[in-house]
Amino acid sequence: MATLFKPLQVEERHQNAPRLSVIVPTYNEFANIAPLVAAVRSVLGSVPWEMIVVDDDSRDGTYDEVLRIAQSEPRLRCLRRVGRRGPSSAVTEGVLAANGEVIAVMDADFQHDETKLPVMYHRLIEEEADVVVGTRYAGEGGIGDWNATRAKMSNFANTLSRRLVGNQTTDPVSGFFVIRRSVFVSTLYGLSQQGYKILIDLLTSADRPLKVLEEPYQFRSRAEGESKISMMVLAEFAFLLIDKVTRGWIPPRFVLFVGVGGLGLLIHLCILLTGAKANLGFLDAQVLATFTAMVFNYVVNNEFTYRDRRLVGWKFIRGLVLFMLICSIGALANVGVAELAIQRTHSWTAAGILGALMGAVFNFGAASSIVWGQ
Ligand code: GDD
Ligand code: MN
Repeated sequence: MATLFKPLQVEERHQNAPRLSVIVPTYNEFANIAPLVAAVRSVLGSVPWEMIVVDDDSRDGTYDEVLRIAQSEPRLRCLRRVGRRGPSSAVTEGVLAANGEVIAVMDADFQHDETKLPVMYHRLIEEEADVVVGTRYAGEGGIGDWNATRAKMSNFANTLSRRLVGNQTTDPVSGFFVIRRSVFVSTLYGLSQQGYKILIDLLTSADRPLKVLEEPYQFRSRAEGESKISMMVLAEFAFLLIDKVTRGWIPPRFVLFVGVGGLGLLIHLCILLTGAKANLGFLDAQVLATFTAMVFNYVVNNEFTYRDRRLVGWKFIRGLVLFMLICSIGALANVGVAELAIQRTHSWTAAGILGALMGAVFNFGAASSIVWGQ
């Protein structure tokens, strides 16, 4: 009878419970999933692991592929998100669903060297670190066969980010790292979760200095599929930096919107002056300038500020019409507020700024909810 009370089962369960949760954000990675699971299984050997693929409703059947493989690999799960995009928030949600005390974050496309996973995992535990960052910029690390432009872009992002996170790591934009779950979770409320750069976000949100180790690796070229790095990634990187610099007080999208508006204003003035030189009447030049500036603002906002909700096809045209309507109402709001302000302050500058601010806030609110509303 005594054997009944032996904590055998408990011990067994404990030993099999995942200690390492590998979080993989995916978008259109169908062809990489099966080889990735096989590779992770083989390198992790006796480490109790699980893998959570966080898929943003890929068009290529990534989700079904994960379910199919999970039939014979119960350590694999898929978290499918609908109507959402972005690796950072995907990773965070994966971490929140993870069972392991240690988290590994890596891409699905084999650019990150999975053979480093067990090394990073063991170093984290044995050297009592908070984070082990896979780095391309130290020791034997390298950026592989990137072309010069991409290498320069990466270098630029890297330098900028290092200024933000200090000397904690040589590769703060790395998407490959191992971290204690408790450390990740402790930063949750400070995370901005914009875009790709979850590591910068984590390192700048921690409430105590973290012990960060580095493990150099060679960045490989993508196995299957295409990179999603694009204007969207640049925009999101700008979002993250703005969010960190303003400490979350001003929506990054608003800052970009106003920035684009400022450029539009410059264009407006240039056309007006050119019109004056070309002997166009003021009204004609003003109409032309206003129209061009609005189209410019719309196109740039569509490509950059609202990249994640970019309008194409007939929706692009509909959006343009709506945007122009909104800007016209915004201009009325601008003039109305300025008029009220001038009566009280008698300062042209103050009234002008207040009016412009009112117009910008109105345009931003209306454009965000009506033109690029989801
Ligand atoms: N869930 C989700 N949602 N995953 C996404 C999304 C998205 O919107 N966009 C991309 N991913 C996934 C991809 O499927 C891939 O697994 C991983 O995020 C990286 O995307 P890539 O498009 O392959 O990025 P990259 O190779 O240009 O850049 C990567 O490596 C750099 C070096 O470590 C990223 O991890 C960068 O953050 C990193 O700096
Ligand atoms: Mn990649």
